[in-house]
Amino acid sequence: MLKPVCLADFEEHFLKSLDRNARDYFSSGANQEITVKDNVEAFNRYRLRPRMLRDVSNVNMKTTIMGNEIDFPIGIAPTAVQKMAHPEGEVATARAASSMNTCMILSTWSTTSIEEVAQANGSGLRWFQLYVFKDKSVTMDLIKQAERSGYKAIVITVDTPRVGKKLVDDRNRFYLPSHLHRVNATTDTSDNTQSSQEAQESLVHKSTQTMLDPKLTWDTITWVKSFTKLPVIVKGILTGEDAKLAVQHGVDGIIVSNHGGRQLDGVLATIDVLGEVVEAVEGRVEVYVDGGVRQGTDVLKALALGAKAVFIGRPVLWGLAYQGQTGVEEVLRIIKEEFKLAMALSGCANVTDIQLSLLAFEKRYSSKL
Ligand SMILES: Cc1cc2nc3c(=O)[nH]c(=O)nc-3n(C[C@H](O)[C@H](O)[C@H](O)COP(=O)(O)O)c2cc1C
Repeated sequence: MLKPVCLADFEEHFLKSLDRNARDYFSSGANQEITVKDNVEAFNRYRLRPRMLRDVSNVNMKTTIMGNEIDFPIGIAPTAVQKMAHPEGEVATARAASSMNTCMILSTWSTTSIEEVAQANGSGLRWFQLYVFKDKSVTMDLIKQAERSGYKAIVITVDTPRVGKKLVDDRNRFYLPSHLHRVNATTDTSDNTQSSQEAQESLVHKSTQTMLDPKLTWDTITWVKSFTKLPVIVKGILTGEDAKLAVQHGVDGIIVSNHGGRQLDGVLATIDVLGEVVEAVEGRVEVYVDGGVRQGTDVLKALALGAKAVFIGRPVLWGLAYQGQTGVEEVLRIIKEEFKLAMALSGCANVTDIQLSLLAFEKRYSSKL
């Protein structure tokens, strides 16, 4: 394979190199995958209005998120079971995040322990993504482990009161290879034996369903906040109304996310929701976005709409599948350099120069119909 020069090249390699069970699990979205596709395509509905004759001899991409400095505003979204993409899984991702000086969010459903990822990440910036379990003691234990291991924020995923339906996983009867386990969930009831592969519906999804709390409400956010001193970020907000409620409930940050199109199919693309959420919070909390970010200009557009940073999910898995830690570093390096070029060509020497006036967009969709 030729050396990848853009993120799509990594995807091409990934699609050829993984077996069907893993490849489809990582790539797929819910139902007809309308939102998966729209997350990517929506960025093209925004065009750029670059400014000329501004000194861009020094382009500075540095920024802060939750008070911590990162070299560029592109972090790693939490994705489950990374050892299915590469034997080093989350350890490789954690090392890459640290060497590139950006933030990694570790999934509750990781195949490497919270402590081991912390060790690999060293002095890097790491946040922990929390699923709220029916068993409160499991949830509390996860938060305590993250605190002890130097994670700097708790990211509560709020879009998964039930697990979205992924047709390909049902068709494939998705299973975790028998040597892999979701190590943080001590109550994980999925068993990856041959017989479980024969079940009509994926047992992994079923056990997830059994463990996670469908009674999740804003009181849960208050409860988590009472329990930890770490900043609490909610991931999965898709309306201005909920963004306002999040602020009222004292969250420290919001990730505009539709779970990469894996939960409710047919929701708006995240880039189309971002402006509404930014407007609703009126600068009171930081807003981030994930979903469909595949190139430097996507990052520029998200920042112009008011995001403090973006996070990428699948491209990191493609990098992992390509070459483990080096592959993830290469993915980050390429999108970082693309973003730097996009800043320079649009007349932005600092991230604070990236303003809404950079954008022109089609008024085909409004999130408030
Ligand atoms: C294979 C896969 C597994 C994921 N696992 C989790 C998870 O465990 N927790 C979570 O909050 N989000 C999870 N997500 C959603 C991502 O955090 C993120 O919202 C999404 O991938 C961003 O879209 P992108 O893949 O287009 O960059 C997962 C996404 C994928 C593709």
